[in-house]
Amino acid sequence: MQYGYFNDAAKEYVITRADTPLPWINYLGSNGFFSLISNTCGGYSFYKDAKLRRITRFRYNNVPHDEGGRCFYICDGETVWSPAFLPMKTPLDAYRCRHGLGYSIFDGKKNGVSASLTVTVPMHTDMEVQKLVLKNESDSEKRLILYGVTEWCLWNAVDDSTNFQRNWNIGEVEIEGSTVYHKTEYRERRNHYAFYSVNAPIDGFDTDRDTFLGRFRGWGEPQAVEHRTSFMSVAAGWAPIAALRLSLTLAPGESKTLLFRLGYVENPQEKKFTALNVINKEKAHAMLAAFETEAQFDAAMDTLKAYWSSLLSRFTVQSSEEKLDRMVNIWNQYQCMVTFNMSRSASYYESGTGRGMGFRDSCQDLLGFVHLIPERARERIIDIASIQFADGSTYHQYQPLTKRGNADVGSGFNDDPLWLIACTCAYIRETGDFSILDAPTPFNNEAGTEVPLMEHLRRSLRYTVEHRGPHGLPLIGRADWNDCLNLNCFSMTPGENFQTCSNFESGKAESVFIAGMFVKYGKEYAALCDRIGLSDEAKTVRGSVKEIEGAALTFGWDGEWFRRAYDAFERPIGSRVNDEGKIFIEPQGFCVMAGIGGPEYGKRALASTEALLGNEFGIEVLHPCYTAYHDYLGEISSYPPGYKENGSVFCHNNPWITLAYCTVKDGNGAFDLYKRNAPAYIEDKSEIHRTEPYCYSQTIAGRNAKTYGEAKNAWLTGTAAWSFVAVSQGILGIRPDYDGLIVDPCLPDTMNGYRLSRLFRGTRYDVTVRRGENKGLIVNGKPVPGNTVPLTGASVCTVELTI
Ligand code: GLC
Ligand code: GLC
Repeated sequence: MQYGYFNDAAKEYVITRADTPLPWINYLGSNGFFSLISNTCGGYSFYKDAKLRRITRFRYNNVPHDEGGRCFYICDGETVWSPAFLPMKTPLDAYRCRHGLGYSIFDGKKNGVSASLTVTVPMHTDMEVQKLVLKNESDSEKRLILYGVTEWCLWNAVDDSTNFQRNWNIGEVEIEGSTVYHKTEYRERRNHYAFYSVNAPIDGFDTDRDTFLGRFRGWGEPQAVEHRTSFMSVAAGWAPIAALRLSLTLAPGESKTLLFRLGYVENPQEKKFTALNVINKEKAHAMLAAFETEAQFDAAMDTLKAYWSSLLSRFTVQSSEEKLDRMVNIWNQYQCMVTFNMSRSASYYESGTGRGMGFRDSCQDLLGFVHLIPERARERIIDIASIQFADGSTYHQYQPLTKRGNADVGSGFNDDPLWLIACTCAYIRETGDFSILDAPTPFNNEAGTEVPLMEHLRRSLRYTVEHRGPHGLPLIGRADWNDCLNLNCFSMTPGENFQTCSNFESGKAESVFIAGMFVKYGKEYAALCDRIGLSDEAKTVRGSVKEIEGAALTFGWDGEWFRRAYDAFERPIGSRVNDEGKIFIEPQGFCVMAGIGGPEYGKRALASTEALLGNEFGIEVLHPCYTAYHDYLGEISSYPPGYKENGSVFCHNNPWITLAYCTVKDGNGAFDLYKRNAPAYIEDKSEIHRTEPYCYSQTIAGRNAKTYGEAKNAWLTGTAAWSFVAVSQGILGIRPDYDGLIVDPCLPDTMNGYRLSRLFRGTRYDVTVRRGENKGLIVNGKPVPGNTVPLTGASVCTVELTI
């Protein structure tokens, strides 16, 4: 069952009913000011950091889940309605939500009045702008009263929802004309404020939430709206809001446009005030002036659309598979941008208050993003590397606002350092910019410790080599990619954090998965060394690779698949000798991609993977699921069977298997798996899958779950980047390389080819792949041996490949 449809020409997903199984959200903003917006206009905004600079309030455990956010009330006679259904819940005569790239549009109709609300964060603006067009489509005059309301968060989202003994005393606002300024804590150490404003004279306002709503009332029944009035309340503590009231008279056929603007401003210390405790509004005035007219807004929308068209034109494909094209050309790349911006911080599942930017997460997100805006990728790589320690280990996370490592979580996730090699190599292959390797980069952000980035990569590798266990395999530490495989944690204390506790540091538990990573990225590192004239180092590294590959072959191969790990007592995990957790997905993906044991082991591992882990939504993370908790396994065994790391389809690593299929040249296997959880392919199962059909979710409940097929944790998942890598570099086979663009498709029998356009190092490559007799590569009309299209420097290059 579907709740809407894709409109590819407009690059929109059109939701046709408000009662989607869960809030289906979109992301607005791409640099500083970000908003989350659901299909009923819920959500929240923040500046750069969802924990430290939360602008509007959101209650994660709210019932109903998605109330609040952007509240519009249209009073038309006796009827009050909201254009996006919530918060009034008045049945609408028409409802539609269009989520586009960086904007959402809501079209609601009631009793002859239509409301079209477009919400976006214009580029280079720290402001969400909401354009509301009200039109009288009836035969008689309409006298409407309109409210636009937003609830402020008191900046630190954790404090805001915990420290009430203070919070309920500090809220402050200023009101000037049609603008409410939120200035809590500005009187003391903060130098930033927010505002909500409308570009027309208002009849009244409220800034105290409880006055506006009234006792015993929620957002769907405010007292002020019921009385069609405003109480002109000025918040003093409690919960400050901005509620703006206007009246409009519309002749038949007439329409009026209003612009509501939610902005964020920072002032330099010496320019904070214009009088005692009166905030300096100069910047706000300028921002409002820039979005005072509909023409200004429409121009910003045009700029935004042109921006996205140009970004996405860097990689477009046309094939016989409409859904693949839709994912590749629009939604997968869009999600890659969102994960790049957000890492795992702010979604409807990630509270924005816990994890900031993850080291491994952000490194992987970059793999699907680097072709879009390489300069931002470069900056990110340096930021990430700057939280590494001198011994090569690294903080696991950092706060985006401060860019400092997060000491609460600390380090010790032993896969982390290797991801830095993965993303740096991907960056250089994309851009040819070897100079990044010379960029002075500190350890733990300490001034004076800067060394060239290359030294960070070197220490990443060395860390793995020097931290190995009894079988010569890399030590797992607190966990590897699978945050929940905690082999040194031995927790029996309720609530103890599995990732940070270690009650028995065995110094023995090992990861076959990290071995696979090391072989893959060690080879990439050695190749990089060769390129920059470090052939001795390349040789040494290849020696280490050989050693660890040997350990993986001897102790990592289980006979029909790769084992997962060895526990603190040197017992295998993910082996036929185990009763539960006999096989795990991760090492099958990475060891096969790394070529360990060659195609023969690869094919056998994949056959076992499919047979034991495969379901209709993809490949489950392990099988059989753990039915009881084991302290020597950690969080993985804490989840009920079929959920999360205990046997769901953890979508993030499915593309590793797709790529593993490509490694053994099995195009049918690769595409079959790709289709099983690519959102566009399962749109018609939305009532089962439940999350948005235009983005990947982290997890889909497995066969053993009570809700098999149900997805959770939409949007912020490494699935986005890896799926893009799998489909673009694996199935379509377009791989940036140091000396050129590799064209090496691995297509299923059902696809006869494709046409593709790829911007790479300043050249637009127009690629046509087809099946036929005279196999081979033709570049600008001339046959070229192999699969690499050499760099030409020209603006256009025509590539034909017959397979
Ligand atoms: C989450 C984490 C990621 C981890 C994965 C598996 O997605 O963000 O870092 O690899 O879970 O545990
Ligand atoms: C939990 C989640 C896992 C996530 C981790 C991050 O373990 O299950 O997916 O990576 O928390 O802290």
